[in-house]
Amino acid sequence: MAERLTKTGARNVFYGGSIFFFAIFVGLTAHSHYYIRTTSTDETTLTDSVARGKHIWEKHSCINCHSILGEGAYFAPELGNVWTRWGGQDDRDGARETLRSWMAAQPSGVEGRRQMPQFNLTDEEINDLADFLEWTSKIKTQNWPPNEAG
Ligand code: HEC
Repeated sequence: MAERLTKTGARNVFYGGSIFFFAIFVGLTAHSHYYIRTTSTDETTLTDSVARGKHIWEKHSCINCHSILGEGAYFAPELGNVWTRWGGQDDRDGARETLRSWMAAQPSGVEGRRQMPQFNLTDEEINDLADFLEWTSKIKTQNWPPNEAG
């Protein structure tokens, strides 16, 4: 065996190592994708209204102030769990109504509180938004984000 690492040996370690870890990376990526498609998201409840709700979320850039599942801005509360915080798992209509009145009451104008704009959403848009927030609240995120505040 050579005393020192030869140039060829070093090259082999480099290429071998790169290929090895690239293969692990591809494997983990495939696994994550498989998990998302089969375990974490429930495609059977993924309705058109959920998709429309997501578009409303995107169109009005709610993420510029809010985080959802830990992703987004930290000016306003996490919304991935707002459905469960408002008791939506036991009382869907109640949570829907809470969302409706919340959206209607903004901006609150309460001094010292951060303000949320008025988006003038229609009844149907609020319903779609509620469906989107409900669906999102049921994604299995492996307990991410780790606390309620996102
Ligand atoms: C300019 C920043 C801003 C944008 C954009 C914004 N929000 Fe908010 N939102 C806030 C703030 C600030 C609060 C907290 C207000 C308070 O507690 O008085 C809030 C609170 C909420 C709450 C109640 C959360 C809770 O835990 O009580 C909901 C639901 C909500 N926003 C939904 C939305 C939706 C849906 C959109 C997009 C259509 C949106 N927000 C866009 C700033 C924003």
